[in-house]
Amino acid sequence: MATFPAQRPRRLRRTPAVRRLVAEIRLHPADLILPVFVREGLTQPEPISSMPGVFQHTEKSLLQAADDAALLGLGGIMLFGIPSVRDAHGSAGLDPEGILNRSIAAVKERVGDALPVMSDLCLDEFTDHGHCGVLDDQGAVDNDRTLGLYARMAAVQAAAGADVVAPSGMMDGQVEVIRAALDDAGHQNVAILAYSAKYASAYYGPFREAVDSQLTGDRRQYQMDAANRTEAIKETELDLAEGADMVMVKPAGSYLDILSDVAEVADVPVSAYQVSGEYAMIEAAAANGWIDRRAVVLESLTAIRRAGATSVLTYYAAEAARWIREDQSPLRRSTTAEP
Ligand code: PBG
Repeated sequence: MATFPAQRPRRLRRTPAVRRLVAEIRLHPADLILPVFVREGLTQPEPISSMPGVFQHTEKSLLQAADDAALLGLGGIMLFGIPSVRDAHGSAGLDPEGILNRSIAAVKERVGDALPVMSDLCLDEFTDHGHCGVLDDQGAVDNDRTLGLYARMAAVQAAAGADVVAPSGMMDGQVEVIRAALDDAGHQNVAILAYSAKYASAYYGPFREAVDSQLTGDRRQYQMDAANRTEAIKETELDLAEGADMVMVKPAGSYLDILSDVAEVADVPVSAYQVSGEYAMIEAAAANGWIDRRAVVLESLTAIRRAGATSVLTYYAAEAARWIREDQSPLRRSTTAEP
């Protein structure tokens, strides 16, 4: 007598429509946050060679990217500024007329409340030594003196119109001083997206080109060590206690265990940042014809969401949003049917 498997999980994988029915994770444009670079003094968008398809924007092309992001219904746009002049204290980041702050204002004026405007709150793009804070006389980043600058930066970014500020410098106590500075300046409604578990990662390599980073050395004295998992919980709990409205894990792809842990303990939305090196690896393999670019991008974003991210910062945000729209179109019914 023939025996049959009592359980047949394959039943629910039979057709695209059935798989769609039972999918636990769906990508939506609103889950995706687009990081953008705007460089002072640029007259036309400048390609970033290690990130094919990503550009340093001019102040004008930035507005087109923002329009596009708003029309696509993305979750937000995250601004990084590249000043033409840098100094030891990162003054250009504190200047209301500096490239980042005036770009926040311009984007906010353009998109209004249609798209959350987010700003990177860190000094590394503005310092001539490329570190995320000011240095002490040993050349180490001085945590507490840096906090004062972050507090001022937060108030300036909020005054420019940022809906969300995103401190990425990994200084101890940064969320607390930023919350206080925002509240003192009357910006109670500006939210903090804290880079809580941010690792010292070689995957940030192409970003350094993207922002023309002046960094020599590394950030291992302030960003987390890749070997550590428990510490991510500690960092998250501290940021939550200090008033973070959202928390982030960064990088994403190689840190899905961390993301899962953080999502478990956080009672706020959790973001993950698919960083420049993750983008570059996909692009390089796809350019060689070694992987299916679109499939890998969507799979990587699905995996990040599945691990626990409510939103993903990704350089693919606009393109992926277009793909998601296409895939949802009923016109794709005939093309996605398979035996
Ligand atoms: C710091 C910052 C970095 C990135 C985002 N914010 C660089 C760093 O910490 O060294 C990296 C993002 C990426 O690699 O895509 N302002």
